[in-house]
Amino acid sequence: MSHLLTRTQIQQLVAMHGHEIIGHRHMDIERCCYQHGNVTTFAHSIRVACLAVWMADRAHLWHHVDLRSLIRAALLHDYFLYDWHDWDNGTHRWHGFTHGHAALVNALRDFKLNAIEKDSIEKHMFPLTPIPPRYIEGYLVTLADKISATRETLSMGRFHKKSLPSAQVRATMVKNDSRQESVR
Ligand SMILES: [Fe+2]
Ligand SMILES: [Fe+2]
Repeated sequence: MSHLLTRTQIQQLVAMHGHEIIGHRHMDIERCCYQHGNVTTFAHSIRVACLAVWMADRAHLWHHVDLRSLIRAALLHDYFLYDWHDWDNGTHRWHGFTHGHAALVNALRDFKLNAIEKDSIEKHMFPLTPIPPRYIEGYLVTLADKISATRETLSMGRFHKKSLPSAQVRATMVKNDSRQESVR
């Protein structure tokens, strides 16, 4: 890629390389959970993917970065499939430390991942979790995640949240889904 990518071109690349993930039915769970402020986990993941591609582009890293792996890892980095704001007897208390691994377990169940994607998803919470990413793609995901999370958390939009399906409805979605899974 010789010229600088426009916002539209970046969105098109994310849609093209991420289409298997974006179209997966489990993404409906991400669409129903707020991640930061008034941004759902789904929207947050798309933002992280777009920002990670923008950073790789502006830093001229295309000789060192696999675009498809970068986009797929970014889209799946928070694929933990629950709302961490829900109180469920304190299970989510360690969310910050555990959700990278939870996302990887879910992602491995639903997609075929390469080494870059696996490592970048699992280690995206570095330095909160101690082991650093192994690949440049992982550093781009972790940096894009922190920038997006900070923006989303501080945005004025956080005061204008639409109500999303309740915890019970989401739990039913997950339960129905695993029932269908066991029938398959
Ligand atoms: Fe995360
Ligand atoms: Fe994130």
